[in-house]
Amino acid sequence: MQGVIDYLKQNQTRFLAEFCEYLRFPSVSAQPQHKKYLSACADWLVAHCRQIGLTAEVRQTNGHPIVVAKTPRTKNSHLPHYMVYGHYDVQPPEPLDLWKTPPFEPRIVGREIFARGSTDNKGQNFAHLKAVEAYLKTGTPLPCDLTFVIEGEEEVGSENLATFLKTNKRELDCEAVVISDTGMPSPKHPALGYALRGIIAFEITLHGPARDLHSGLFGGAIENPAMALATLLAQVRDKNGRIKIPGFYDGIEKFTKFERAQSALYPMTDAQLKKLVGSPALFGERGFTATEQRSARPTFEINGLTSGYQGEGSKTIVPAWARAKITCRLVPHQKPEHVRKKVLAYLKKICPPTVRMEITAGHGAEAYLVSPTGAPAQAALRALEKAFKSKPILMREGGSIPIVNQFKKILGADSLLLGLGLPDDNPHSPNEKFNLDCFEKGQLMSAHLWQELGPCQCC
Ligand code: BES
Ligand code: ZN
Repeated sequence: MQGVIDYLKQNQTRFLAEFCEYLRFPSVSAQPQHKKYLSACADWLVAHCRQIGLTAEVRQTNGHPIVVAKTPRTKNSHLPHYMVYGHYDVQPPEPLDLWKTPPFEPRIVGREIFARGSTDNKGQNFAHLKAVEAYLKTGTPLPCDLTFVIEGEEEVGSENLATFLKTNKRELDCEAVVISDTGMPSPKHPALGYALRGIIAFEITLHGPARDLHSGLFGGAIENPAMALATLLAQVRDKNGRIKIPGFYDGIEKFTKFERAQSALYPMTDAQLKKLVGSPALFGERGFTATEQRSARPTFEINGLTSGYQGEGSKTIVPAWARAKITCRLVPHQKPEHVRKKVLAYLKKICPPTVRMEITAGHGAEAYLVSPTGAPAQAALRALEKAFKSKPILMREGGSIPIVNQFKKILGADSLLLGLGLPDDNPHSPNEKFNLDCFEKGQLMSAHLWQELGPCQCC
């Protein structure tokens, strides 16, 4: 192992240059005009994986390609097999004017690297590739067989990955899936995630007049779709932050004492949270701490709200339509299609007859919850502690990784969530960054992890 650790230490400058190359691909999966950059990024990854000693190939799907890369192994290898999952696609970088430097021109300031996709997820996943490179290039035997599956559609719901898992079930059969695509509270507080929230996405459009109208000539006698949408959305939540949609909370379980105690260990005060996000005050469902609200309670969020004139100056119109992009975060035991039905039924019921409602369904995924007591989780905790030199905490994550439930359902594999992102990394926001200490310690954690997950040495 010392050889691996030394190799990692000695090669950080080159790793950083390679990481920058990776970050320069604008692999925005949500925007069709970026399709060619996703393919180019996948090709670059395959070439890089081959260079570090993996066998690698691009596997085509009905959407963006998947990169599959494997450590060299003997035909009848008895080593335990683990999958390392990640994604090379990134969120749209807009609004561009809020970036201090362009999102696909990586900039290093101190121990931070700024670029879209730096923390989510290129950097976190790249740390694992570099750890494996260290084994392969130093000729240190890897105690596990590893298959990297790096997809290009995570940020749009991983629609094609489940089919890929089903078709390649035997090839991907593994003990567990290792994922670094989540967070940790600080470099002094490494964390093992044991839950993710689920999600449903949809868009509501309210149609009013057949075209934008002069508000002086017609305003007052017809419904304004933007006003109707605001009124409609305002009826979704009460003043205590509780969602008023009947059936929304169906099946949710109460927190156990263990859960409450774990979430209380999350080292962030309300004042720190307020400062981090820059809001004038915090707001959340009454009866729950901010950590619980952010990770273990369901939500109804407006992600985008559009209507009427958005340009400079004023334009006196009654807009023809208004639209909201919505996602609800879900917690364990909420069924995405059940919640979707309940939400739509409620919105239809409260929609006034003065507008026509159109709803487009988007992606959906269940929440994920696993007991962090099994042998792989214990191995992961040891690897985290060795790399970060402090005791890891267990945490529920508020974000979603849609495919983790399919790993369980299709492959029977649990996921180890070894997040390397910091709370101020700005994923999905302008000026996304990744901390270079997390990058380096992440590599070390990965190097230790394969030792910890390998076959037991004493029996
Ligand atoms: N890396 C995130 C998920 C994440 C971040 C989980 C932080 C926990 C903590 C992932 O790339 C992501 O953003 N997922 C989307 C999924 C959605 C588009 C279906 C999300 O959570 O919004
Ligand atoms: Zn993301």
